[in-house]
Amino acid sequence: MMSTERVLFVDHTGQIGGAELILLDVVQGRSDSSAFLFEPGPLGNALSERGVPVVTSRWGRGLAQFRRDSSWLKALPLFGRLAAITVELARAVRRHDVVYANSQKAFVLSAIANLAARRPLIWHLHDIISPAHFGALQRRIQVFLANSFAAKVIVPSEAAASAFIDAGGRRSLVEVVPNGLAVEPVPVSRQELRQRLGLPTAPLVGVFSRLAQWKGQHVLIEALARLPGVHAIIVGDALFGEQAYAAELKRQVATLGLGDRVHFLGHRGDVPMLMQAVDAMVHPSIDPEPFGRTLVEAMLAGVPVIATDAGAAPDILEHGRAGMLVPPGDVGALAEALDHVLAEPELLKPQLDYASRRARTHYNLARMLESIGLLIRNVRAGAAA
Ligand code: UDP
Ligand code: GLC
Repeated sequence: MMSTERVLFVDHTGQIGGAELILLDVVQGRSDSSAFLFEPGPLGNALSERGVPVVTSRWGRGLAQFRRDSSWLKALPLFGRLAAITVELARAVRRHDVVYANSQKAFVLSAIANLAARRPLIWHLHDIISPAHFGALQRRIQVFLANSFAAKVIVPSEAAASAFIDAGGRRSLVEVVPNGLAVEPVPVSRQELRQRLGLPTAPLVGVFSRLAQWKGQHVLIEALARLPGVHAIIVGDALFGEQAYAAELKRQVATLGLGDRVHFLGHRGDVPMLMQAVDAMVHPSIDPEPFGRTLVEAMLAGVPVIATDAGAAPDILEHGRAGMLVPPGDVGALAEALDHVLAEPELLKPQLDYASRRARTHYNLARMLESIGLLIRNVRAGAAA
């Protein structure tokens, strides 16, 4: 269905992480809308391919990598650039009916850029607002701007909703819209897929996240040292300035002598196929995961999931009914869970069937698009009333 609202979708990054994959689905069929990105990159190209005109800021390159521990002195020229982006953004806002910020940085600048035009403003908050990821001042600014200027805050999970409310966010603003995915497994056996993809025939597990400390790839590597004969594929790259962690992982593998069992595949465009080829999907995040698309991707692929018991994972995996949960950062528990899953895969069949049904019903793409479409329509109608 074509939607007629002129929505300005705003994102700070040019990279494609999970939040941007959701955005790429949300923009489908919105030919009257456009996007404003702070920096060039694959996201701009993907949006253009979907028929969405993209304005890219002249001032934002590299901002996505700016970390909250950077010094104030280093931040000074940054403020000038942020102001310049806000001016560009304010110009774009005037040509649209609704502003839809898809990231925290995008929301903060959109709220300021929208001060004069006062278009209804939606924040799709893909993060857990907590001290682990945001400084105290940042959290206060985000929550103040949301409470003052947002028409709605969309979050993908109850965990993200609670964190926003605990940080002082108004409960009435929050709409929980679970992320939706539509991936069909390919009708090919696991071993045949491995042959096609050049993967080992030995017991094989995988992690499919961008490389970042809080995603916890190092915990899986440590667990692997306790599981002789088990191989792992580490799929994903450092998307948001975590190159030092990526290098650290490679050092860790060398130090533990796991070079022949841990395979770094980098960023891949064929995750669903790779996922279907492994014996277990590990989601080792050490901080609470706001959602975790890879959990649902594995459920849809019919692959056993072992995830850390924090954030949205216990909800998505229904407290262990649709996958196994282990405490975050607990190497021993992860190794034990992997041992269990690899030893008796046939016992998991009922759990896998249940997980796949659950993913199809609860984390359905059409349902997500319908809910977000309705929210956009309602905030626009509210502004027009
Ligand atoms: N992904 C990908 N290629 C990779 C690694 C990951 O396409 O090499 C995809 C993965 O399949 C998932 C998304 O990136 O759909 C990551 O989303 P998730 O919600 O799991 O985590 P995020 O990175 O957004 O925190
Ligand atoms: C963010 C979160 C991830 C979530 C994705 C889409 O990148 O880290 O957990 O699945 O957004 O909402």
